[in-house]
Amino acid sequence: MAENKDMNGTNEQDDKTLTTRQGHPVSDNQNIRTIGNRGPATLENYHFIEKISHFDREEVPERVVHARGSGAFGYFETYGKVGEEPVEKYTRAKVFSGAGKKTPLMVRFSTVAGAKDSPETARDPRGFAVKMYTEDGNWDLVGNNLKIFFIRDAMKFPDMIHAFKADPVSNVPNPERMFDFVSRTPEATHMITFLFSPWGIPATYRHMQGSGVNTYKWVNAKGEAVLVKYHWEPKQGIRNLTQEEANEIQAKNVGHATQDLYEAIENGDYPEWELFVQIMEDDYHPELDFDPLDDTKLWPEDKFPWLPVGRMVLDRNPVDFHAEIEQAAFGTGVLVDGMDFSDDKMLQGRTFSYSDTQRYRVGANYLKLPVNAPKSPVRTNQQRGQMDVRDPKESGDNPHINYEPSMLGGFKEANTEGRAPHQPTYNAAAMSAPIDRPNNYGQAGDTYRSLEDWERDELIKNLSEALAACNIKIQEAMIEHFTKADEDYGRRVKKGIEMKMIEMKEMKTGQVPGRESGQSKYGQGSL
Ligand code: HEM
Repeated sequence: MAENKDMNGTNEQDDKTLTTRQGHPVSDNQNIRTIGNRGPATLENYHFIEKISHFDREEVPERVVHARGSGAFGYFETYGKVGEEPVEKYTRAKVFSGAGKKTPLMVRFSTVAGAKDSPETARDPRGFAVKMYTEDGNWDLVGNNLKIFFIRDAMKFPDMIHAFKADPVSNVPNPERMFDFVSRTPEATHMITFLFSPWGIPATYRHMQGSGVNTYKWVNAKGEAVLVKYHWEPKQGIRNLTQEEANEIQAKNVGHATQDLYEAIENGDYPEWELFVQIMEDDYHPELDFDPLDDTKLWPEDKFPWLPVGRMVLDRNPVDFHAEIEQAAFGTGVLVDGMDFSDDKMLQGRTFSYSDTQRYRVGANYLKLPVNAPKSPVRTNQQRGQMDVRDPKESGDNPHINYEPSMLGGFKEANTEGRAPHQPTYNAAAMSAPIDRPNNYGQAGDTYRSLEDWERDELIKNLSEALAACNIKIQEAMIEHFTKADEDYGRRVKKGIEMKMIEMKEMKTGQVPGRESGQSKYGQGSL
């Protein structure tokens, strides 16, 4: 029992005194109140019941994807230009105007499929979500490290994620499930090629690129739009891991990437990325052999160069992980004036999903939390709901008028003078149909050929090992996809699977003399 007595013998509380959430000083935090010192306990033990019942509610549901993550705060500094041109030619978004202007931001990096405390060495895309608190409200750029994606239609996302996660009966992770889905999803061949190469395991969050993946629009003051893709390039350089290196790290540390980011910032070694955009006319682009809105494709850099627009520095760690990182809520719908959605079907599906899940995961008033609230004024008639902690100022000078329009007061719509709306026009039937120009294999082959030799060797080794444990129908389908991308690719994976299967059989029967168990007979790079 801790008691501070002042000179007059009365209780004195200082700023270190433990209190309940009601503000009552806690004089005994060790013993529950009981009948006699052996129990039973009493029900009116308010402090204990408050303490334990709050603990029982400490966790919010983890994210359905990207549950494992870490984050930090910093700023974006605009160059005021797109390459050599004034940024206003393409967008009126204020976050990009005025060279040298800084906008505060926060970032959350993540893996995708694993649970909240899963290893950060997973072969998995990495999330790269940025929230900028701009003068015109929040802008979220919810991207990944890789520049493309597995699928191009939002309808497929829940199935894809089910296949990538553990078996729903046994809860055992099983790559056969993923390859089963992917073997029926030819557009995933390109992403699988990146994912099973060393690009599938970035060494740390600081050493990876970021990309918006989906196509957005930039809109200028005249209402004219261009298509735009965003890319982050780490000033620290890019570093990826081989599977062996990842296994070594994972044996000792399942949170190495979080630790690396946190310690770098604590040590004043602030990570930095440069932001580039690729710009394309808002058009069907019949000259391309793919649809520009297809997120399984890269936009060729020789035709659509990377143009620098600014840089991001992360210089502050969270003060509370749960409040600032776990409860952070990003969404693809969170755009500012001067930006718009493209017709990219994935982007459109995503835009519903994020705020929908956040209303469930964090609560209806998730935008009231400091990490999610904009730093620009909020004046809204959206009100009430659980945990409504509105600042009375949000209700304006006349809080009686919580509707719009009104002649008696309340908020008015924004003045759009000098900001012509962007109004795309459509003339097509509503339908459920795949896009034209799927070209599922062309860029997968280009990417395969563009890898360095050691990266290609790793790719073949990783794919062969994973596929050797799969059903033969899945193996055959995957070999067919790889062969269509590049004959050498298919041939090497086929041979790699065969060799791995022999090896697995031999290990089972123990028929191989002179070889230590678990050691590959073929060595790295010999496939
Ligand atoms: C997180 C849905 C595709 C990047 C999430 C979450 C959902 C979701 C429900 C959890 C959000 C939360 O709990 O706060 C979808 C759907 C997709 C899709 C329906 C396709 C139709 C993508 C793509 C990317 C991506 C293509 C990469 C560009 C992310 C990132 C996060 C995330 C980075 C984590 C954000 C954070 O750190 O809080 N997604 N996603 N997603 N998604 Fe997607």
